[in-house]
Amino acid sequence: MSKNLYIKTFGCQMNERDSEIIEQLLAQEGYVPTDSAVGADVVLINTCSIREKAEQKVFSLLGQLREEKASNPNLLIGVTGCVAQQEGEHIRERMPHVDLIVGTQQIYRLPEMLDRLTQRVSAREIATDLEASFAIPPFQKLLINAPPSPTPHGFRRFVTIMQGCNNYCSYCVVPGTRGREISRPVADIVEEVEILASQGVKEITLLGQNVNSYGLTNKVAETEVGFAQLLRQVAAIKGLRRLRFTTSHPKDLSEPLMRCFAEIDILCPHFHLPVQSGSNAVLERMHRKYTVESYLDKVTKLRQLQPDIALATDIIVGFPGETEADFQATLDLLRTVRFHGSFSFKYSDRPHTRSADFTDKIPEEIKSRRLQEYQTLQDEISLERNSESMGREVEVMVESGDHAAYRGRTPVNQVVHFAADGQSFAPGDLARVVIDQAGKHSLKGRLRSEP
Ligand code: 5AD
Ligand code: SF4
Repeated sequence: MSKNLYIKTFGCQMNERDSEIIEQLLAQEGYVPTDSAVGADVVLINTCSIREKAEQKVFSLLGQLREEKASNPNLLIGVTGCVAQQEGEHIRERMPHVDLIVGTQQIYRLPEMLDRLTQRVSAREIATDLEASFAIPPFQKLLINAPPSPTPHGFRRFVTIMQGCNNYCSYCVVPGTRGREISRPVADIVEEVEILASQGVKEITLLGQNVNSYGLTNKVAETEVGFAQLLRQVAAIKGLRRLRFTTSHPKDLSEPLMRCFAEIDILCPHFHLPVQSGSNAVLERMHRKYTVESYLDKVTKLRQLQPDIALATDIIVGFPGETEADFQATLDLLRTVRFHGSFSFKYSDRPHTRSADFTDKIPEEIKSRRLQEYQTLQDEISLERNSESMGREVEVMVESGDHAAYRGRTPVNQVVHFAADGQSFAPGDLARVVIDQAGKHSLKGRLRSEP
């Protein structure tokens, strides 16, 4: 008999991909995804702990599920992902109704764990070892051979190429929650992308905490292939129209990788290169291992190689000890690079990080004011950047819509709405659109009339 599975995913694309893998693994055990906790047999919360706010959301949802469990005592509630890894058994001190706790590297054990719970062989399950799951042969193959997820994930998919992180930025919880960096074998990655392409997937995003060091650190299989070569191998797979990757550490951005933006046709000229701060003093205390000057040199080189490249970044404001002058340097950097977009955050202390012990914390009001100022400037620049597309013809990969109007994305990831003039498009199709309106978050246009 089929059982209903509800997965709620918080956090990054890595987590989104993990949730898909969980869905695929559990589909083999007869679990069918649903979109509500009400009436589900199993609820899994795939959690994020990157910032304090992300973790608070998890606990507030778990609090709400207490009532659901009271009205349906057979409901199994599990916590997976980074909060599960970080807090382990402690989750149950606050949330005793949680049945199952599964760390970031243990999701392949979910089928047997759920089996023991449903058979009532055990009342509680926990697995939080950090041994990299890529290194576990049955899981490597499961990743590839698991049948496609029963919910359609469409024309655009994520493929995980590495796990963990060795960088130990002083503010970051990831090395603690995802473990040491490990690269997945090239052959497995290529095989997975080939299968996806043969199923009609048009766009692939390669995922890792720091893809620039792919193949350089811990490897599952002996291989000399670095990230630039991996990109070339994946780009050669027939059927793919767009290739993206995330995330990159500026210190490991190599020239061979920069050249890929000029030389690989299907590699989208959109690069997420988190800088975090525009002050060298702050970067040093963040343990980022690059300077503003070396970052700017790389930006210049990238733009020489690929003039159309759009850069996006991550910024933390209010890092401990950040002075007004440090913050102004971050605004200056934004004015200099003119990022197409930023993800910007107020600093928050995270467990077991070095910066949590720094004593010169910035008051909340100052952090909020700086964030507001940063975001206002970024919005102005995003609007200017989007306005640069006015009158231009762009390629749009359609995501959704009907014969009246469609929505899609340009290679640099701008959202475009366009009227279809009676033509119809399926998700994943490419349309040529002329832009005639630009806002800070999206563009509008019309189909190019045939010559
Ligand atoms: N506080 C605020 N932002 C953080 N990030 C990571 N750790 C913290 C923290 N402790 C941000 C960084 C990173 C993004 C994923 O989250 O900008 O690039
Ligand atoms: Fe959040 Fe980082 Fe874990 Fe992703 S890896 S879920 S961003 S803490």
